[in-house]
Amino acid sequence: MPPRDYPLESYWMPFTANRAFKASPRLLVGAQGMHYVTEDGREVLDGTAGLWCVNAGHCRPQIVEAIRKQAGTMDYSPAFQMGHPGAFRVAARLAQLAPGDLDRVFYTNSGSEAVDTALKIALAYHRARGQSQRSVLIGRERGYHGAGFGGISVGGIPANRKAFGSLLPRVDHLAHTHNLEHNAFSRGQPAWGAHLADELESRIIPLHGATHIAAVIVEPMAGSAGVLVPPKGYLERLRQICDRHGLLLIFDEVITGFGRVGPCFAAEAVQVVPDMITIAKGLTNGTVPMGAVLVRRGIYDTIIDSAPPGTIELFHGYTYSGHPLATAAAEASLSLFEEEGLSQRAQDLAPYFQEAVHSLREMPHVIDIRNMGMVAGIELEPKPGRPAERAFKTYLKCFEKGLLIRTTGDIIALSPPLIISKPQIDELVGTLASVLRETDRD
Ligand SMILES: Cc1ncc(COP(=O)(O)O)c(C=O)c1O
Repeated sequence: MPPRDYPLESYWMPFTANRAFKASPRLLVGAQGMHYVTEDGREVLDGTAGLWCVNAGHCRPQIVEAIRKQAGTMDYSPAFQMGHPGAFRVAARLAQLAPGDLDRVFYTNSGSEAVDTALKIALAYHRARGQSQRSVLIGRERGYHGAGFGGISVGGIPANRKAFGSLLPRVDHLAHTHNLEHNAFSRGQPAWGAHLADELESRIIPLHGATHIAAVIVEPMAGSAGVLVPPKGYLERLRQICDRHGLLLIFDEVITGFGRVGPCFAAEAVQVVPDMITIAKGLTNGTVPMGAVLVRRGIYDTIIDSAPPGTIELFHGYTYSGHPLATAAAEASLSLFEEEGLSQRAQDLAPYFQEAVHSLREMPHVIDIRNMGMVAGIELEPKPGRPAERAFKTYLKCFEKGLLIRTTGDIIALSPPLIISKPQIDELVGTLASVLRETDRD
């Protein structure tokens, strides 16, 4: 390996154990298809699509070329009071793909910004229709909605909140749906748990008052907190309750969008049409940062029509909303997604992937395996007094053996690019099995 000609100290790495990493770094220098290349020239099978984003595999020439071309044609155009064709074209395509009438598109640069944007649109919508008292936002325990103040407020991961003070006021949380006693080793959506949605109507609405709540935001399948698959009927019930009380329902599909659980959006998989969908990651296949909020037409119309003609209707946006490189990457990614039928591919591969991951059931310390589409969670029994250590060691050993997985606490998450082949699924599960067998000795 050539010596590093740069120091490691200055870069403050996100969601990373900086000291441990810098003492023993893991650096990636290349990527192609299903693999990364490490700085010492090893190939690593990507079991996580980067961070749930590289759904079509790495360095796809079509996307690379589109970005290259756009960079040489128009590098940037102002996002406010100005437009460029790519931004309109991508919005029109997303409107086609979106379920129901979610055919208005607001661009952001990340999932976190998409979440903050959706929460702000919810508040602005209620204000525009004369219900500004609707300001309570409801999230869910173990929800991950990015790292902005809005996202961590409605999010429900304690570690992400505890250092940051009082966060947004007027926020409450539903209970999460994870339950090993009832649902351990479920394949697909678990049968138990639809009734957990009723807490919205039985506890949260009476507590805050139905007419004071603006919106409920959930990930249809909670990814970052450890692959929590929605119980059958749960999201349907949330939808019904929101409808009964005039609450907006936001699905955070930053992970589930673009075929991760089969259909283009998880909303289609569970046949529930929310009022807004947040997306990012797979939208550009992870190549250029980009997020968006897909919004029901009626919400857009209400906000737009409430402002005097000729004035700015929503005082919100980002310098890089609809950045030309991002929209070029999105156009190419959406085309690839369609041409290669990646959503169908995910649906076709899912049963094979399901059987493969569930074959790990007898491995040491495995207390649950769950899956939906091309996502799987494998939960390990925590070491007494040392939570997360067992899974993180598994992560390190897998990386040594040429496999990238992801861990949250003692949960391993698998979400390979949707172009993975069956032999590569076998390799992924085989490597993980060999590492889990070794952890028996720890
Ligand atoms: C469901 C969900 N929402 C929001 C985010 C935040 O996205 P970003 O990291 O692009 O800000 C993530 C990131 O993993 C996510 O999984």
